[in-house]
Amino acid sequence: MLRLVAGISAGVVCLIGLEELIRRKRKKAANASSTKDAKQQGATRQDTRQITPEEKLTLRQVPRVPVSIMEAFQAMRSGQEAHLFEQWRDEMDSDLFYLQLPLCQRAYVCTDPSCWDALVGPAGLDKSHRYHLFDLFGEGALTRTRQMITRKTSGEHWHAIRKALSPAFANRTLLTKTPIYHRVLGSFVKALDDAADKHLAVDMPKWGLRYTIDMIGEVAFNYSFHAFDAERNGEALALLRAIDFIFQEVWSTLVNPFRPYMIWCSQVREYYRCIRLFRDVCRKIYQQFLDTPPDKRDATSVIYYIHNAPYPTEFEKLCDIYNLLWAGHDTTGYTIAWGVYHLSSNPRALKKLQQELDAATFENEFPTYEELGQLPYFNACVKEFMRITPVVGNGGLRQTEGGIKVTSRGVDYWIPGGYEIFFPLLPPFRDDRIWGDGKVFRPERWLEASEEQLKLYNKVFQPFSVAPRSCIAQHLASIEVRMTMAALFKRFEFEVTTEPDPYYAITYKPRGLMVKPIRRT
Ligand code: HEM
Repeated sequence: MLRLVAGISAGVVCLIGLEELIRRKRKKAANASSTKDAKQQGATRQDTRQITPEEKLTLRQVPRVPVSIMEAFQAMRSGQEAHLFEQWRDEMDSDLFYLQLPLCQRAYVCTDPSCWDALVGPAGLDKSHRYHLFDLFGEGALTRTRQMITRKTSGEHWHAIRKALSPAFANRTLLTKTPIYHRVLGSFVKALDDAADKHLAVDMPKWGLRYTIDMIGEVAFNYSFHAFDAERNGEALALLRAIDFIFQEVWSTLVNPFRPYMIWCSQVREYYRCIRLFRDVCRKIYQQFLDTPPDKRDATSVIYYIHNAPYPTEFEKLCDIYNLLWAGHDTTGYTIAWGVYHLSSNPRALKKLQQELDAATFENEFPTYEELGQLPYFNACVKEFMRITPVVGNGGLRQTEGGIKVTSRGVDYWIPGGYEIFFPLLPPFRDDRIWGDGKVFRPERWLEASEEQLKLYNKVFQPFSVAPRSCIAQHLASIEVRMTMAALFKRFEFEVTTEPDPYYAITYKPRGLMVKPIRRT
Protein backbone atom coordinates (compact mmCIF):
# COMPACT_ATOMS: atom_id res chain seq x y z
CA MET A 1 0.00 0.00 0.00
CA LEU A 2 2.80 2.34 1.06
CA ARG A 3 4.58 1.59 -2.24
CA LEU A 4 1.47 2.40 -4.19
CA VAL A 5 1.06 5.76 -2.43
CA ALA A 6 4.76 6.52 -2.97
CA GLY A 7 4.48 5.56 -6.65
CA ILE A 8 1.42 7.74 -7.20
CA SER A 9 3.03 10.68 -5.38
CA ALA A 10 6.20 10.33 -7.47
CA GLY A 11 4.09 10.24 -10.62
CA VAL A 12 2.21 13.40 -9.64
CA VAL A 13 5.46 15.22 -8.79
CA CYS A 14 6.92 14.19 -12.17
CA LEU A 15 3.84 15.44 -14.01
CA ILE A 16 3.89 18.78 -12.21
CA GLY A 17 7.62 19.12 -12.93
CA LEU A 18 7.06 18.27 -16.56
CA GLU A 19 4.25 20.76 -16.86
CA GLU A 20 6.55 23.47 -15.47
CA LEU A 21 9.29 22.46 -17.91
CA ILE A 22 6.91 22.69 -20.85
CA ARG A 23 5.73 26.10 -19.67
CA ARG A 24 9.30 27.41 -19.39
CA LYS A 25 10.28 25.94 -22.76
CA ARG A 26 7.37 27.71 -24.41
CA LYS A 27 8.19 31.01 -22.79
CA LYS A 28 11.83 30.66 -23.84
CA ALA A 29 10.86 29.80 -27.42
CA ALA A 30 8.56 32.80 -27.63
CA ASN A 31 11.25 35.16 -26.29
CA ALA A 32 14.03 33.68 -28.38
CA SER A 33 12.09 33.90 -31.57
CA SER A 34 11.30 37.57 -31.23
CA THR A 35 15.04 38.26 -30.92
CA LYS A 36 15.83 35.86 -33.77
CA ASP A 37 13.15 37.38 -35.98
CA ALA A 38 14.68 40.80 -35.64
CA LYS A 39 17.88 39.37 -37.12
CA GLN A 40 16.16 37.56 -39.97
CA GLN A 41 16.01 40.17 -42.64
CA GLY A 42 13.51 39.53 -45.38
CA ALA A 43 11.88 36.62 -43.55
CA THR A 44 8.51 35.91 -45.12
CA ARG A 45 6.93 33.28 -42.85
CA GLN A 46 4.18 34.74 -40.72
CA ASP A 47 5.33 33.51 -37.36
CA THR A 48 8.90 34.69 -37.87
CA ARG A 49 7.71 38.16 -38.78
CA GLN A 50 8.74 40.60 -36.16
CA ILE A 51 5.98 42.13 -34.13
CA THR A 52 7.08 44.99 -31.97
CA PRO A 53 6.18 44.87 -28.25
CA GLU A 54 4.06 48.01 -28.79
CA GLU A 55 2.14 46.38 -31.64
CA LYS A 56 1.69 43.21 -29.59
CA LEU A 57 0.00 45.23 -26.85
CA THR A 58 -2.67 46.35 -29.32
CA LEU A 59 -3.57 42.81 -30.32
CA ARG A 60 -6.53 41.09 -28.74
CA GLN A 61 -6.29 37.85 -26.76
CA VAL A 62 -7.97 34.87 -28.41
CA PRO A 63 -11.01 33.86 -26.32
CA ARG A 64 -10.96 30.58 -24.44
CA VAL A 65 -13.83 28.12 -24.90
CA PRO A 66 -15.66 28.19 -21.53
CA VAL A 67 -15.17 24.52 -20.65
CA SER A 68 -12.95 22.96 -18.01
CA ILE A 69 -9.64 21.32 -18.91
CA MET A 70 -11.16 17.88 -18.51
CA GLU A 71 -14.19 18.77 -20.61
CA ALA A 72 -11.88 20.10 -23.32
CA PHE A 73 -9.83 16.88 -23.11
CA GLN A 74 -12.98 14.77 -23.47
CA ALA A 75 -14.26 16.93 -26.34
CA MET A 76 -11.02 16.43 -28.28
CA ARG A 77 -11.36 12.68 -27.84
CA SER A 78 -15.05 12.53 -28.64
CA GLY A 79 -14.77 11.96 -32.38
CA GLN A 80 -17.09 14.96 -32.79
CA GLU A 81 -14.53 17.78 -32.57
CA ALA A 82 -15.26 19.40 -35.93
CA HIS A 83 -18.95 19.66 -35.04
CA LEU A 84 -18.01 21.05 -31.63
CA PHE A 85 -15.74 23.61 -33.31
CA GLU A 86 -18.75 24.62 -35.38
CA GLN A 87 -20.93 24.84 -32.26
CA TRP A 88 -18.38 26.85 -30.23
CA ARG A 89 -17.82 29.26 -33.12
CA ASP A 90 -21.57 30.00 -33.13
CA GLU A 91 -21.95 30.14 -29.35
CA MET A 92 -18.93 32.40 -28.86
CA ASP A 93 -19.54 34.35 -32.05
CA SER A 94 -15.83 34.12 -32.80
CA ASP A 95 -13.93 32.32 -35.53
CA LEU A 96 -10.82 32.14 -33.36
CA PHE A 97 -10.79 30.42 -29.98
CA TYR A 98 -8.73 28.00 -27.96
CA LEU A 99 -9.22 25.03 -25.71
CA GLN A 100 -7.16 24.68 -22.57
CA LEU A 101 -5.90 21.10 -22.35
CA PRO A 102 -3.93 19.27 -19.63
CA LEU A 103 -0.16 19.87 -19.28
CA CYS A 104 -0.31 23.51 -20.37
CA GLN A 105 -1.39 22.45 -23.80
CA ARG A 106 -3.73 24.60 -25.83
CA ALA A 107 -5.49 23.79 -29.06
CA TYR A 108 -6.16 26.98 -31.01
CA VAL A 109 -8.89 26.73 -33.62
CA CYS A 110 -9.48 29.02 -36.59
CA THR A 111 -12.72 28.55 -38.53
CA ASP A 112 -12.32 31.69 -40.66
CA PRO A 113 -11.26 30.82 -44.24
CA SER A 114 -9.98 34.35 -44.78
CA CYS A 115 -7.13 33.45 -42.37
CA TRP A 116 -6.03 30.39 -44.37
CA ASP A 117 -3.50 32.34 -46.34
CA ALA A 118 -1.82 33.63 -43.17
CA LEU A 119 -1.94 30.25 -41.45
CA VAL A 120 -1.31 27.72 -44.20
CA GLY A 121 -0.46 29.70 -47.33
CA PRO A 122 3.10 30.12 -48.69
CA ALA A 123 4.06 32.46 -45.83
CA GLY A 124 2.09 30.49 -43.26
CA LEU A 125 2.98 28.28 -40.34
CA ASP A 126 4.80 24.99 -40.51
CA LYS A 127 3.41 21.54 -39.77
CA SER A 128 2.95 20.48 -36.21
CA HIS A 129 5.55 18.09 -34.76
CA ARG A 130 2.66 15.77 -33.85
CA TYR A 131 2.36 14.65 -37.44
CA HIS A 132 5.46 12.62 -36.63
CA LEU A 133 3.25 10.08 -34.88
CA PHE A 134 2.19 8.72 -38.25
CA ASP A 135 5.74 7.92 -39.18
CA LEU A 136 7.49 4.58 -39.62
CA PHE A 137 10.36 3.18 -37.59
CA GLY A 138 13.20 1.44 -39.37
CA GLU A 139 14.01 -2.15 -38.38
CA GLY A 140 15.24 -2.04 -34.79
CA ALA A 141 15.28 1.76 -34.80
CA LEU A 142 13.74 3.82 -32.05
CA THR A 143 13.31 7.00 -34.00
CA ARG A 144 10.79 7.69 -36.69
CA THR A 145 11.45 8.76 -40.26
CA ARG A 146 9.40 11.46 -41.92
CA GLN A 147 7.03 10.95 -44.84
CA MET A 148 5.86 13.64 -47.26
CA ILE A 149 2.84 14.77 -45.29
CA THR A 150 4.75 15.01 -41.99
CA ARG A 151 7.86 16.83 -43.21
CA LYS A 152 8.24 20.45 -42.26
CA THR A 153 8.03 22.79 -45.24
CA SER A 154 11.48 24.12 -44.50
CA GLY A 155 14.60 22.19 -43.70
CA GLU A 156 13.33 18.61 -44.18
CA HIS A 157 13.73 18.01 -47.93
CA TRP A 158 9.98 18.41 -48.44
CA HIS A 159 10.30 20.71 -51.44
CA ALA A 160 12.70 18.52 -53.47
CA ILE A 161 10.61 15.41 -52.84
CA ARG A 162 7.29 17.05 -53.65
CA LYS A 163 8.80 18.43 -56.87
CA ALA A 164 10.12 15.02 -57.86
CA LEU A 165 6.80 13.23 -57.24
CA SER A 166 4.45 15.87 -58.65
CA PRO A 167 4.65 14.72 -62.31
CA ALA A 168 3.25 11.34 -61.22
CA PHE A 169 0.08 13.16 -60.07
CA ALA A 170 -0.29 15.46 -63.07
CA ASN A 171 -3.61 15.12 -64.92
CA ARG A 172 -1.94 14.08 -68.16
CA THR A 173 -0.16 11.18 -66.42
CA LEU A 174 -3.24 10.12 -64.47
CA LEU A 175 -5.55 10.13 -67.47
CA THR A 176 -3.39 7.51 -69.20
CA LYS A 177 -4.44 5.12 -66.46
CA THR A 178 -8.12 4.94 -67.36
CA PRO A 179 -7.94 1.18 -68.21
CA ILE A 180 -6.64 0.54 -64.67
CA TYR A 181 -9.42 2.62 -63.05
CA HIS A 182 -12.01 0.74 -65.10
CA ARG A 183 -10.56 -2.68 -64.27
CA VAL A 184 -10.55 -2.03 -60.50
CA LEU A 185 -13.98 -0.39 -60.67
CA GLY A 186 -15.18 -3.55 -62.45
CA SER A 187 -14.26 -5.71 -59.44
CA PHE A 188 -16.12 -3.33 -57.08
CA VAL A 189 -19.23 -3.31 -59.28
CA LYS A 190 -19.11 -7.11 -59.50
CA ALA A 191 -19.00 -7.39 -55.70
CA LEU A 192 -21.99 -5.02 -55.47
CA ASP A 193 -23.78 -7.04 -58.19
CA ASP A 194 -23.32 -10.20 -56.12
CA ALA A 195 -24.67 -8.42 -53.03
CA ALA A 196 -27.66 -7.15 -55.06
CA ASP A 197 -28.40 -10.69 -56.31
CA LYS A 198 -28.40 -11.96 -52.72
CA HIS A 199 -30.35 -8.92 -51.41
CA LEU A 200 -27.53 -8.25 -48.95
CA ALA A 201 -26.84 -4.96 -47.19
CA VAL A 202 -23.16 -3.97 -47.30
CA ASP A 203 -21.05 -1.92 -44.91
CA MET A 204 -20.41 0.91 -47.37
CA PRO A 205 -17.45 2.56 -45.58
CA LYS A 206 -15.65 -0.79 -45.31
CA TRP A 207 -16.39 -1.70 -48.92
CA GLY A 208 -15.35 1.76 -50.05
CA LEU A 209 -11.99 1.28 -48.35
CA ARG A 210 -11.47 -2.15 -49.86
CA TYR A 211 -12.11 -0.69 -53.26
CA THR A 212 -9.81 2.30 -52.81
CA ILE A 213 -6.93 0.26 -51.38
CA ASP A 214 -7.17 -1.92 -54.49
CA MET A 215 -7.20 1.22 -56.60
CA ILE A 216 -4.19 2.93 -55.00
CA GLY A 217 -2.28 -0.38 -55.02
CA GLU A 218 -2.77 -0.80 -58.77
CA VAL A 219 -2.55 2.85 -59.86
CA ALA A 220 0.40 3.98 -57.78
CA PHE A 221 2.41 0.82 -57.16
CA ASN A 222 1.29 -1.81 -59.72
CA TYR A 223 0.54 -3.94 -56.67
CA SER A 224 -2.61 -6.08 -56.33
CA PHE A 225 -4.29 -6.31 -52.94
CA HIS A 226 -7.31 -8.34 -54.20
CA ALA A 227 -9.42 -6.80 -51.46
CA PHE A 228 -12.67 -8.31 -52.80
CA ASP A 229 -11.24 -11.80 -53.23
CA ALA A 230 -12.04 -13.71 -50.04
CA GLU A 231 -9.11 -16.10 -50.61
CA ARG A 232 -6.44 -13.48 -51.16
CA ASN A 233 -7.53 -10.41 -49.21
CA GLY A 234 -5.86 -11.18 -45.86
CA GLU A 235 -3.15 -8.55 -46.31
CA ALA A 236 -5.60 -5.84 -47.45
CA LEU A 237 -7.96 -6.45 -44.53
CA ALA A 238 -5.07 -6.43 -42.05
CA LEU A 239 -3.88 -3.07 -43.43
CA LEU A 240 -7.37 -1.57 -43.31
CA ARG A 241 -7.73 -2.60 -39.70
CA ALA A 242 -4.23 -1.28 -38.94
CA ILE A 243 -4.78 2.18 -40.37
CA ASP A 244 -7.97 2.53 -38.38
CA PHE A 245 -6.01 1.69 -35.27
CA ILE A 246 -3.12 4.04 -36.09
CA PHE A 247 -5.54 6.93 -36.68
CA GLN A 248 -7.27 6.34 -33.34
CA GLU A 249 -3.96 6.30 -31.52
CA VAL A 250 -2.49 9.34 -33.28
CA TRP A 251 -5.62 11.27 -32.42
CA SER A 252 -5.48 10.15 -28.78
CA THR A 253 -1.88 11.35 -28.63
CA LEU A 254 -2.95 14.82 -29.68
CA VAL A 255 -4.49 15.27 -26.27
CA ASN A 256 -2.27 12.93 -24.30
CA PRO A 257 1.38 13.34 -25.35
CA PHE A 258 2.43 10.46 -23.08
CA ARG A 259 0.30 7.99 -24.96
CA PRO A 260 3.08 6.55 -27.23
CA TYR A 261 5.15 5.74 -24.12
CA MET A 262 2.33 3.92 -22.30
CA ILE A 263 3.49 0.55 -23.56
CA TRP A 264 1.81 -1.24 -20.67
CA CYS A 265 -1.42 -0.42 -22.47
CA SER A 266 -2.29 -3.15 -24.99
CA GLN A 267 -3.75 -0.62 -27.44
CA VAL A 268 -0.44 1.25 -27.59
CA ARG A 269 1.45 -1.99 -28.24
CA GLU A 270 -1.05 -2.79 -30.96
CA TYR A 271 -0.41 0.63 -32.52
CA TYR A 272 3.32 -0.18 -32.82
CA ARG A 273 2.46 -3.57 -34.31
CA CYS A 274 0.25 -1.86 -36.89
CA ILE A 275 3.04 0.56 -37.85
CA ARG A 276 5.39 -2.41 -38.29
CA LEU A 277 2.82 -4.21 -40.40
CA PHE A 278 2.61 -1.24 -42.74
CA ARG A 279 6.37 -1.00 -42.93
CA ASP A 280 6.65 -4.66 -43.93
CA VAL A 281 4.00 -4.36 -46.63
CA CYS A 282 5.67 -1.22 -48.00
CA ARG A 283 8.95 -3.10 -48.13
CA LYS A 284 7.22 -5.89 -50.06
CA ILE A 285 5.71 -3.41 -52.52
CA TYR A 286 9.09 -1.79 -53.12
CA GLN A 287 10.83 -5.16 -53.48
CA GLN A 288 8.30 -6.17 -56.13
CA PHE A 289 9.23 -3.00 -58.02
CA LEU A 290 12.97 -3.67 -57.66
CA ASP A 291 12.49 -7.26 -58.86
CA THR A 292 10.82 -6.03 -62.05
CA PRO A 293 13.41 -5.72 -64.85
CA PRO A 294 14.06 -2.00 -65.53
CA ASP A 295 12.69 -2.18 -69.07
CA LYS A 296 9.40 -3.67 -67.76
CA ARG A 297 8.82 -1.02 -65.08
CA ASP A 298 5.85 1.30 -65.53
CA ALA A 299 7.50 4.69 -65.95
CA THR A 300 4.22 6.49 -65.18
CA SER A 301 3.63 4.82 -61.81
CA VAL A 302 4.11 6.68 -58.57
CA ILE A 303 6.57 4.08 -57.32
CA TYR A 304 8.77 4.73 -60.34
CA TYR A 305 8.96 8.40 -59.37
CA ILE A 306 9.61 7.49 -55.74
CA HIS A 307 12.45 5.22 -56.84
CA ASN A 308 14.11 8.08 -58.74
CA ALA A 309 13.42 10.90 -56.28
CA PRO A 310 16.28 12.49 -54.29
CA TYR A 311 15.54 10.93 -50.89
CA PRO A 312 18.38 11.27 -48.39
CA THR A 313 18.02 7.55 -47.49
CA GLU A 314 16.46 4.45 -49.04
CA PHE A 315 14.20 3.98 -46.02
CA GLU A 316 12.50 7.29 -46.74
CA LYS A 317 11.21 5.79 -49.99
CA LEU A 318 9.32 3.20 -47.96
CA CYS A 319 7.95 6.01 -45.79
CA ASP A 320 6.40 7.70 -48.80
CA ILE A 321 5.02 4.44 -50.15
CA TYR A 322 3.35 4.17 -46.76
CA ASN A 323 2.15 7.80 -46.88
CA LEU A 324 0.58 7.43 -50.29
CA LEU A 325 -0.91 4.07 -49.38
CA TRP A 326 -2.76 5.32 -46.30
CA ALA A 327 -3.61 8.81 -47.55
CA GLY A 328 -4.50 7.32 -50.93
CA HIS A 329 -7.25 4.99 -49.80
CA ASP A 330 -8.73 6.26 -46.53
CA THR A 331 -9.74 9.69 -47.88
CA THR A 332 -11.24 8.48 -51.16
CA GLY A 333 -12.90 5.42 -49.59
CA TYR A 334 -14.81 7.46 -47.01
CA THR A 335 -15.62 10.18 -49.56
CA ILE A 336 -17.28 7.57 -51.79
CA ALA A 337 -19.21 6.16 -48.81
CA TRP A 338 -20.42 9.66 -47.87
CA GLY A 339 -21.44 10.27 -51.48
CA VAL A 340 -23.49 7.06 -51.59
CA TYR A 341 -25.15 8.10 -48.35
CA HIS A 342 -26.10 11.64 -49.36
CA LEU A 343 -27.39 10.75 -52.79
CA SER A 344 -29.37 7.77 -51.48
CA SER A 345 -30.91 9.94 -48.75
CA ASN A 346 -31.97 12.67 -51.18
CA PRO A 347 -34.30 11.04 -53.72
CA ARG A 348 -35.04 14.29 -55.54
CA ALA A 349 -31.34 14.98 -56.20
CA LEU A 350 -30.77 11.32 -57.08
CA LYS A 351 -33.55 11.36 -59.67
CA LYS A 352 -32.10 14.43 -61.37
CA LEU A 353 -28.64 12.91 -61.29
CA GLN A 354 -29.77 9.61 -62.78
CA GLN A 355 -31.69 11.41 -65.54
CA GLU A 356 -28.48 13.19 -66.47
CA LEU A 357 -26.44 9.99 -66.33
CA ASP A 358 -29.02 8.07 -68.38
CA ALA A 359 -29.08 10.73 -71.07
CA ALA A 360 -25.28 10.72 -71.37
CA THR A 361 -23.51 8.33 -73.72
CA PHE A 362 -20.28 6.75 -72.58
CA GLU A 363 -18.02 4.98 -75.00
CA ASN A 364 -17.27 2.10 -72.62
CA GLU A 365 -19.16 0.38 -69.82
CA PHE A 366 -17.72 2.92 -67.37
CA PRO A 367 -17.31 6.62 -68.10
CA THR A 368 -14.01 8.38 -68.62
CA TYR A 369 -13.11 11.47 -66.63
CA GLU A 370 -13.37 13.60 -69.77
CA GLU A 371 -16.91 12.35 -70.46
CA LEU A 372 -17.96 13.27 -66.93
CA GLY A 373 -16.81 16.85 -67.48
CA GLN A 374 -19.96 17.33 -69.61
CA LEU A 375 -22.40 16.59 -66.74
CA PRO A 376 -23.07 19.76 -64.69
CA TYR A 377 -25.58 18.32 -62.21
CA PHE A 378 -23.36 15.31 -61.53
CA ASN A 379 -20.37 17.55 -60.81
CA ALA A 380 -22.50 19.76 -58.56
CA CYS A 381 -23.54 16.63 -56.59
CA VAL A 382 -19.91 15.58 -56.09
CA LYS A 383 -18.93 19.05 -54.86
CA GLU A 384 -21.95 19.13 -52.60
CA PHE A 385 -21.26 15.88 -50.76
CA MET A 386 -17.59 16.77 -50.43
CA ARG A 387 -18.69 20.10 -48.99
CA ILE A 388 -21.24 18.95 -46.46
CA THR A 389 -19.14 16.07 -45.10
CA PRO A 390 -15.51 16.88 -45.93
CA VAL A 391 -13.44 13.80 -45.27
CA VAL A 392 -10.54 15.88 -43.92
CA GLY A 393 -13.03 17.80 -41.79
CA ASN A 394 -10.48 18.69 -39.14
CA GLY A 395 -8.22 20.27 -41.75
CA GLY A 396 -4.60 20.26 -40.72
CA LEU A 397 -2.53 21.10 -37.72
CA ARG A 398 0.11 23.82 -37.69
CA GLN A 399 2.41 25.12 -35.01
CA THR A 400 3.37 28.64 -33.98
CA GLU A 401 7.03 29.25 -33.30
CA GLY A 402 7.37 32.77 -31.95
CA GLY A 403 3.73 33.81 -31.94
CA ILE A 404 1.57 35.09 -34.75
CA LYS A 405 -0.84 37.91 -35.49
CA VAL A 406 -4.09 36.66 -37.03
CA THR A 407 -6.83 38.95 -38.32
CA SER A 408 -10.34 37.59 -38.24
CA ARG A 409 -13.54 39.57 -38.86
CA GLY A 410 -11.49 42.77 -38.84
CA VAL A 411 -9.99 42.16 -35.37
CA ASP A 412 -6.25 41.52 -34.86
CA TYR A 413 -5.47 38.67 -32.46
CA TRP A 414 -2.25 37.39 -30.95
CA ILE A 415 -1.55 33.66 -30.78
CA PRO A 416 1.55 32.98 -28.65
CA GLY A 417 4.47 30.79 -29.72
CA GLY A 418 4.74 27.06 -29.07
CA TYR A 419 1.08 26.17 -29.62
CA GLU A 420 -0.87 24.26 -32.22
CA ILE A 421 -3.62 25.56 -34.45
CA PHE A 422 -6.35 23.62 -36.14
CA PHE A 423 -7.96 25.07 -39.23
CA PRO A 424 -10.91 22.69 -39.58
CA LEU A 425 -12.67 22.59 -42.93
CA LEU A 426 -16.09 21.44 -41.79
CA PRO A 427 -17.21 24.66 -40.02
CA PRO A 428 -16.55 27.01 -42.99
CA PHE A 429 -17.88 24.44 -45.45
CA ARG A 430 -21.26 24.56 -43.68
CA ASP A 431 -21.23 28.16 -42.48
CA ASP A 432 -24.64 29.81 -43.08
CA ARG A 433 -22.95 33.19 -43.45
CA ILE A 434 -21.37 31.84 -46.63
CA TRP A 435 -23.83 29.25 -47.89
CA GLY A 436 -27.18 30.49 -46.53
CA ASP A 437 -28.36 26.96 -45.74
CA GLY A 438 -24.97 25.37 -45.18
CA LYS A 439 -26.18 22.22 -43.43
CA VAL A 440 -28.56 21.29 -46.24
CA PHE A 441 -27.53 18.98 -49.09
CA ARG A 442 -28.54 21.01 -52.15
CA PRO A 443 -26.42 20.48 -55.29
CA GLU A 444 -28.38 23.20 -57.10
CA ARG A 445 -26.51 25.86 -55.12
CA TRP A 446 -23.49 25.31 -57.37
CA LEU A 447 -25.55 25.87 -60.52
CA GLU A 448 -27.79 28.69 -59.36
CA ALA A 449 -25.17 30.89 -57.68
CA SER A 450 -24.38 34.32 -59.10
CA GLU A 451 -20.88 34.87 -60.43
CA GLU A 452 -19.89 36.65 -57.25
CA GLN A 453 -21.33 33.94 -54.99
CA LEU A 454 -19.62 31.23 -56.99
CA LYS A 455 -16.32 33.03 -56.59
CA LEU A 456 -16.79 32.99 -52.83
CA TYR A 457 -17.93 29.33 -52.81
CA ASN A 458 -14.87 28.24 -54.75
CA LYS A 459 -12.58 30.24 -52.49
CA VAL A 460 -13.97 28.59 -49.35
CA PHE A 461 -14.52 25.11 -50.77
CA GLN A 462 -10.95 23.79 -50.53
CA PRO A 463 -11.33 20.11 -49.54
CA PHE A 464 -7.70 19.51 -50.52
CA SER A 465 -6.42 22.49 -48.51
CA VAL A 466 -4.39 25.33 -50.01
CA ALA A 467 -0.91 25.60 -51.50
CA PRO A 468 1.88 24.86 -50.83
CA ARG A 469 0.87 21.90 -48.59
CA SER A 470 -2.33 21.09 -50.44
CA CYS A 471 -3.06 17.51 -51.43
CA ILE A 472 -0.53 16.25 -53.96
CA ALA A 473 -3.06 13.74 -55.30
CA GLN A 474 -6.13 15.94 -55.70
CA HIS A 475 -6.49 15.14 -59.41
CA LEU A 476 -6.26 11.43 -58.70
CA ALA A 477 -8.88 11.75 -55.95
CA SER A 478 -11.19 13.73 -58.25
CA ILE A 479 -10.88 11.18 -61.04
CA GLU A 480 -11.45 8.25 -58.71
CA VAL A 481 -14.40 9.71 -56.83
CA ARG A 482 -16.16 11.02 -59.94
CA MET A 483 -15.69 7.89 -62.05
CA THR A 484 -16.87 5.67 -59.22
CA MET A 485 -19.94 7.70 -58.32
CA ALA A 486 -21.07 7.89 -61.95
CA ALA A 487 -20.59 4.15 -62.48
CA LEU A 488 -22.37 3.22 -59.24
CA PHE A 489 -25.41 5.46 -59.70
CA LYS A 490 -25.83 4.58 -63.35
CA ARG A 491 -26.14 0.94 -62.38
CA PHE A 492 -27.55 0.88 -58.83
CA GLU A 493 -29.77 2.51 -56.33
CA PHE A 494 -28.87 2.08 -52.67
CA GLU A 495 -31.35 1.63 -49.86
CA VAL A 496 -29.92 2.96 -46.59
CA THR A 497 -30.67 0.22 -44.06
CA THR A 498 -28.56 1.64 -41.20
CA GLU A 499 -27.88 5.35 -40.78
CA PRO A 500 -24.21 6.30 -40.21
CA ASP A 501 -22.76 7.29 -36.87
CA PRO A 502 -20.41 10.11 -38.01
CA TYR A 503 -17.04 9.92 -36.34
CA TYR A 504 -13.66 11.67 -36.64
CA ALA A 505 -10.28 10.10 -36.18
CA ILE A 506 -7.99 12.07 -38.52
CA THR A 507 -10.64 11.59 -41.23
CA TYR A 508 -14.41 11.92 -41.04
CA LYS A 509 -16.11 8.54 -41.28
CA PRO A 510 -19.75 7.52 -41.83
CA ARG A 511 -19.21 4.68 -39.37
CA GLY A 512 -21.73 1.83 -39.54
CA LEU A 513 -23.49 3.00 -42.72
CA MET A 514 -25.22 -0.03 -44.28
CA VAL A 515 -26.78 0.07 -47.72
CA LYS A 516 -28.54 -2.46 -49.90
CA PRO A 517 -27.52 -2.19 -53.58
CA ILE A 518 -30.48 -2.59 -55.95
CA ARG A 519 -29.76 -2.97 -59.66
CA ARG A 520 -31.66 -0.47 -61.76
CA THR A 521 -33.86 -1.90 -64.47
C1 HEM B 1 -11.04 12.92 -51.42
C2 HEM B 1 -9.79 12.64 -51.27
C3 HEM B 1 -8.74 13.47 -50.59
C4 HEM B 1 -8.86 14.60 -49.81
C5 HEM B 1 -10.15 15.32 -49.43
C6 HEM B 1 -7.53 14.99 -49.40
C7 HEM B 1 -7.25 16.10 -48.61
C8 HEM B 1 -5.98 16.48 -48.25
C9 HEM B 1 -5.68 17.62 -47.41
C10 HEM B 1 -6.72 18.55 -46.81
C11 HEM B 1 -4.34 17.69 -47.28
C12 HEM B 1 -3.55 18.71 -46.45
C13 HEM B 1 -3.29 18.14 -45.07
C14 HEM B 1 -2.54 19.06 -44.16
O1 HEM B 1 -2.36 20.23 -44.44
O2 HEM B 1 -2.12 18.57 -43.13
C15 HEM B 1 -3.77 16.59 -48.03
C16 HEM B 1 -2.42 16.35 -48.14
C17 HEM B 1 -1.91 15.23 -48.76
N1 HEM B 1 -2.61 14.24 -49.42
FE1 HEM B 1 -4.60 14.22 -49.77
N2 HEM B 1 -6.63 14.11 -49.94
C18 HEM B 1 -7.32 13.17 -50.67
C19 HEM B 1 -6.78 12.12 -51.37
C20 HEM B 1 -5.45 11.79 -51.42
C21 HEM B 1 -4.89 10.70 -52.15
C22 HEM B 1 -5.68 9.77 -53.08
C23 HEM B 1 -3.54 10.68 -51.89
C24 HEM B 1 -2.45 9.77 -52.40
C25 HEM B 1 -2.51 9.03 -53.46
C26 HEM B 1 -3.26 11.80 -51.01
C27 HEM B 1 -2.01 12.15 -50.55
C28 HEM B 1 -1.72 13.30 -49.85
C29 HEM B 1 -0.37 13.69 -49.48
C30 HEM B 1 0.92 12.93 -49.77
C31 HEM B 1 -0.49 14.91 -48.81
C32 HEM B 1 0.65 15.74 -48.23
C33 HEM B 1 1.13 16.71 -49.27
C34 HEM B 1 2.26 17.59 -48.77
O3 HEM B 1 2.36 17.84 -47.58
O4 HEM B 1 3.03 18.03 -49.63
N3 HEM B 1 -4.44 12.44 -50.73
N4 HEM B 1 -4.79 15.87 -48.61
